[in-house]
Amino acid sequence: MKRLFSGAQPTGTLHIGNYLGAIKNWVDLQEKYECVFSIVDYHSLTINYEKEDMKKRIIDLAATYLACGIDPERCKLFVQSWIKEHTELMWILSCVTPMGELNRMTQFKDKSSKNVGNVNLGLYAYPVLQAADIILYKSEFVPVGEDQVQHIELTREIVRKFNARYNTDIFPEPQEILSSSKRILGIDGENKMSKSLNNHIGLDDDDKTIQQKLMQAKTDPARVRKTDPGNPAVCNVFSWHKIFSTENEISECAKGCVDASIGCVQCKKILLSHMKELITPIREKKAQILKDTDYIKDVLVEGAKKCDIIAKNTINEVREVIGVKI
Ligand code: TYM
Repeated sequence: MKRLFSGAQPTGTLHIGNYLGAIKNWVDLQEKYECVFSIVDYHSLTINYEKEDMKKRIIDLAATYLACGIDPERCKLFVQSWIKEHTELMWILSCVTPMGELNRMTQFKDKSSKNVGNVNLGLYAYPVLQAADIILYKSEFVPVGEDQVQHIELTREIVRKFNARYNTDIFPEPQEILSSSKRILGIDGENKMSKSLNNHIGLDDDDKTIQQKLMQAKTDPARVRKTDPGNPAVCNVFSWHKIFSTENEISECAKGCVDASIGCVQCKKILLSHMKELITPIREKKAQILKDTDYIKDVLVEGAKKCDIIAKNTINEVREVIGVKI
């Protein structure tokens, strides 16, 4: 089986954007690939965080993965900081990564404009650590949301530079795998769903919270009154219907919107029932899993043991290739 790698940061509860854009795909891909999934805690140090919360967040993210259907029997699930070779390889890759390429990264520009008081080297070098995560396991595929594609393109560029600089072909050029919902917008209907923008519907949200958030969600701005005809093509709530609802419901909502026979609230109520169907079992399963943190830790220890073997082999090979091995 070909190997793939992906990860998410332990920056708080995941939302339906993370789930639909990435995690759901990971679950399905476990059938066909040798999967390595990580909790990339070192990436999350690039923005300010509460030290006391970190342990809890790591455990919480592991529980979320498991509740979503990541199966430790079929994949390797581990915490990035436990495998030291990630940061070691990052340094080696840093020395072949052109700063010009890093300067182009939209995520860096975006995050540095939002964290003006803390534009640190880690934020800038973030994609190099991401490249190290991926190629440490010689992964050929990377399932991610659309916002990460630029980082995977850069990973390919870094691989080409490394292979050319050291006249080797030890690393394959990884390809991204995008889901059919590669970019989920937030309830503001404008920006990518993201926890930092507080426009998200969380996998931990209870029924009431989901309802409140959905009822606030922006629809076609031209549809002020129920009697105004709407345009589903510009309505974010309709784009969610296309993911969550049945064919019949989708066409009924589209027709009802265009001829103003159904209002946005009614349309959202149909969607609400489907969102609850997705979120409730995940939330409940996660709560169950979180009751046994020893089990979660065991899963992570076992995952790290398997990753450690691969990581050490790769780093030995890299040391040989770059000429530092005596
Ligand atoms: P993170 O934690 O920000 O996001 C985790 C995954 O969720 C996807 N995603 C979305 N997909 C669709 N719509 C959205 N609104 C949305 N928001 C988030 C992200 O694309 C991502 O796939 N840099 C990575 C973490 C990482 C990584 C790696 C990923 C570190 N090393 C190596 C792959 C391979 C990130 O920002 O994750």
